[in-house]
Amino acid sequence: MRTRSVNQVINSINTSDGAGVKLLRSLGQRQHVRLDPFLMLDEFGSFDANDYIAGFPPHPHRGFETVTYMLEGHMLHEDHMGNKGHLRGGDVQWMTAAHGIIHSEMPQQQAGRMHGFQLWINLPAREKMKPASYRDIPAAKIPVATLNNRATVKVIAGEYADGEQRITGPIQGLATQALYIDVRLPKDQLFTQPTPGAHNAFVYVYQGTVRVGEGADATSVPTHAAAFLNSGDQIMVTAESDARFLVLAAQPLNEPVVQYGPFVMNTREEIEQAIVDYQNGRLVQEKAQAFNE
Ligand code: FE2
Repeated sequence: MRTRSVNQVINSINTSDGAGVKLLRSLGQRQHVRLDPFLMLDEFGSFDANDYIAGFPPHPHRGFETVTYMLEGHMLHEDHMGNKGHLRGGDVQWMTAAHGIIHSEMPQQQAGRMHGFQLWINLPAREKMKPASYRDIPAAKIPVATLNNRATVKVIAGEYADGEQRITGPIQGLATQALYIDVRLPKDQLFTQPTPGAHNAFVYVYQGTVRVGEGADATSVPTHAAAFLNSGDQIMVTAESDARFLVLAAQPLNEPVVQYGPFVMNTREEIEQAIVDYQNGRLVQEKAQAFNE
């Protein structure tokens, strides 16, 4: 087993998006800060309604997938065809924008904490223009395992595996074979996760601090930072304090990436086409397929 070492630590920066929602952005803070096929990771988290209340009014996407994972709070998603979904604590929305979607994501609370993540995952060229679809997955349908060391592992996509058990998340069968898990790890405890050697992987810490890697090769990763990992067969994380973190891995696409805001394609011409399609009302092809669990 080759344990993955840390290649680079990306500290989040404060930014805002939508109609002024305050965010912490790690991946995607500049266009080259990506880990193929992962394009962007935002953490939104505030007790102050002024930081989130304006939400994300209608906006387009083409060419990739967005994954919204709520830890706390209540968001309403609506798309251009009238599909609606409520996201509350623990829920996930996995949206494949592909050919195109125009949607809004608006807070449904006037006070209290809003906390969660939005991840952007690229699609291979052959899937960028397929019909849009999405799945709203309630927390109750997402498996959470408690390990012998009191760690908890929530599996959103792919499979968690160790000597004790295997847990399969609700999202399977993606071209990128994405793994998306959320781990709560008590101080001084160890978490391991096998990964195909050729997959790109990173860990994003959102509470406490951890060491990522094995023995003397391990690197300390602070809160609100992403650790990009070198290749290897397993990810190893030790909690320096009670910690919570996301583990993500996927097959890289190794295709050119041309991004213009919410459009991510392979060439400039395809981006220009997306802009023309959006201006002419042709971004959206047909009613998005919704799979409500
Ligand atoms: Fe969006």
